[in-house]
This record gives sequence, C-alpha cells and structure tokens, in this order.
Amino acid sequence: MMVNLTVNGEPRTVDVQPDMPLLWVLRDVLDLKGTKFGCGVAQCGACTVHVNGSPTRTCVLPVSAAAGADVRTIEGLSEDGSHPVQRAWQELDVPQCGYCQSGQIMTAVSLLERTPNPSDEDIDAAMGNLCRCGTYLRIRQAIHAAAKQATDAAPGSGGIGATGSSGGPGGPGVSGGATGSRATGSPATRGPVDYRRPVGSGDINP
Ligand code: FES
Repeated sequence: MMVNLTVNGEPRTVDVQPDMPLLWVLRDVLDLKGTKFGCGVAQCGACTVHVNGSPTRTCVLPVSAAAGADVRTIEGLSEDGSHPVQRAWQELDVPQCGYCQSGQIMTAVSLLERTPNPSDEDIDAAMGNLCRCGTYLRIRQAIHAAAKQATDAAPGSGGIGATGSSGGPGGPGVSGGATGSRATGSPATRGPVDYRRPVGSGDINP
C-alpha cells in the first residue's frame, strides 16, 4: 500500500503493509531512529511523536490510519538540538539511560504548545510517559525551565508554540546517558521539590 505522509515538514511516500505500525515506518523505512520501541502496547510512551499536532503512541498506530497526516518526530524539533525543550533537557541533565527521553520530550513539547506556563499539576496530568530511571522530577524542572526560556526570549509570544523551531531531519535528539543522580522512590512517595533551585546547586532529587 502506498501511503503519503508529511514527516518533519517533508512529503514522504512509503510502500508498506497497511497494518505496519507508524513506529516501524519511521524507524525502519524512513530511518528516523530517535523514536523508540518500548512496550509495544501504547503504555510507556517511548514511541511518542506528534501526529497532526497531537502526541501519539505510534507502536500501535497502523500507518494506514495516519495516511495524509502531518508527523513530527524528535528529529524535527531542531537540526542541532536547539529547541528550547531540548536545551532545557541538556542543561538540567535530565536523561539517565536516555531510552525514554525522545518520547518524554515530544510529550513535553506538545504540553508547552498548548499550555505555555504549566503548573506541576498540568505537567503531571500531561506527562504519562514512563521512565524506568525515574527522571520524573528533572523532567518537571526542565519543562518549567523551557517555559521560562521561551517566554523570556520572546515576552508575550505565547511560549514554545510560537518560538520553537520545526527544522528538518538530522537533529541529535536526546541520546546518551547524562551525569547526575537518580531520583528514588515512586512519584507518589517523593517529597516536594523546590523547582526554583538553581542548576548546579546540587542534587535536585530527594
Ligand atoms: Fe527514562 Fe532511562 S528510561 S532515562
């Protein structure tokens, strides 16, 4: 079946089985390896990309259901990792093993495009992606930092949605582990964290 898609701003046509998950089309046919396979049942969120602007778990989405869609992957955020959310992730050393992080970033970008200055509650409600390394607290902090970067850079612009680039493929995404300590305990059992604490002042995780 020939399927037309727009991927990171470029029209693409793929000849695949109609029930092939969009994830495999992106990774194996279009060679966009930044999006990861995690659970295969749409639970963990490692495979999240934007489909027509919405964060979508692509391990269970048949490509035929995405025909004609506008798809944005981690490679489409920027050519050089300079999207405000990618910069915040790097500055705060969010990743541990890194495996889940492209999905985390795509979900975070979507949140910030809809809600430029999210509260902790907004973040917790939007970020359903699982992280086996427990980077949840740093993810929260990075989302706040990205929101601040975007609004400081262009006051009144409306944040990430108005200032984030949507460049072409080839961006580094987030790869490789980062230094820093791990969060411990489940999200429900961790204590409150001061998200205003400056970067570099020590361990942000309790
Ligand atoms: Fe999230 Fe390792 S699974 S950083």
